[in-house]
Amino acid sequence: MRIAVLDESKAGEPRVAVTPETIGKMKAFGGQVVVEKGAGAASSIPDAAFEAAGATLAKNANEALKDADIILAVRRPKGELAGKMKSGAVLLAIMDPYGNGEAIQPFADKGVASFSMELMPRITRAQVMDVLSSQANLAGYRSVLDACEVYGRAFPMMMTAAGTIPAAKVFVMGAGVAGLQAIATARRLGAVVTATDVRPAAKEQVLSLGAKFIAVEDDEFKQAETAAGYAKPMSAEYQAKQAALVAEHIAKQDVVITTALIPGRPAPRLVSKAMVESMRPGSVVVDLAVERGGNCELSVADKVTDHNGVRIIAWSNTPGRLAPSASALYARNLLSFLDTMVDKKEGKLAINWDDELVKATCLTKDGALVHPIFAPKA
Ligand code: NAI
Repeated sequence: MRIAVLDESKAGEPRVAVTPETIGKMKAFGGQVVVEKGAGAASSIPDAAFEAAGATLAKNANEALKDADIILAVRRPKGELAGKMKSGAVLLAIMDPYGNGEAIQPFADKGVASFSMELMPRITRAQVMDVLSSQANLAGYRSVLDACEVYGRAFPMMMTAAGTIPAAKVFVMGAGVAGLQAIATARRLGAVVTATDVRPAAKEQVLSLGAKFIAVEDDEFKQAETAAGYAKPMSAEYQAKQAALVAEHIAKQDVVITTALIPGRPAPRLVSKAMVESMRPGSVVVDLAVERGGNCELSVADKVTDHNGVRIIAWSNTPGRLAPSASALYARNLLSFLDTMVDKKEGKLAINWDDELVKATCLTKDGALVHPIFAPKA
């Protein structure tokens, strides 16, 4: 069972899909891991560490992919690499499938069985494979550090002989995995934290972290959670009420961290230009939703924009800003899923196509796009 891992840093992705730890575990079930040279460098894993764990090195992507039964990646590989993959190979990655059927077609054409890690169902058995959670948790933490770095004032209240410095006021919009970690991190640094979400279940979690909950709690809010635990798109009427409440609140904040996402849709616009203009100079907005279009009107992907002295931070790959930690968790997520797909005694792939995790994540199989998200809309 040959397992290929690509160097994604050339495409701007600092994370890597395996670590020496996961290579050791894959070896134990019959996997021979081939890593493209330099794949771990941006995650502080030298080639020698991969070799010491039992992997062999390939000098380029083509060499790594040759005869690979399994390909592990962080991002969806470029379409042209599909041609280098073996028909019947299994690809596990963050495939970004929504609206990207065309970019995924080459994998179908080549007969690759591709799986989208971000479609993993949020059930107990799959928690260990949940890449959205593992990466969002780190992004939430890092968003606060990024804010601290740019914010010119101190976060904690400081009572000194020369007078008192007030605590920074931090407002977190979207209290899912990233938002809750941002709340906890900002609290640890001594900020006064408030947070909002459209899901009622978030309220108790926000309060339990010692932050205050700010939201329009009407009937629509009370039903704003899907069975999968995600947010639903809110009505225009709700959004207007929410915007009015938030506008008043944001004007008094030093730091606003936005994390709001709705699966398969553009990120909701929550922070307008006028709201940014209501903040005092030196304040900071961190937009964690920029990869999906951004929660803030003024976000420019991968830039820190200065708007009248308010800085808007919009890194599109915040987990990648903690690449060694993000790779360690991501590699374990992948290994846990792969573990369900192999016959360890025989040392070969044995996918149970009826497994709900397989059904929920499989995008391409036997030459076709098979996932319901690619079905034409009725
Ligand atoms: P996400 O990344 O899809 O969205 C982030 C947050 O933004 C969510 O809390 C969402 O409700 C919120 N949001 C969306 N639209 C908004 C708006 N207009 N205004 C304010 N907030 C808005 O969500 P994430 O982080 O993936 O978490 C979703 C839920 O799934 C959470 O309850 C989380 O605790 C739960 N979860 C369950 C797991 C499990 O049972 N295995 C694992 C991980 C998360």
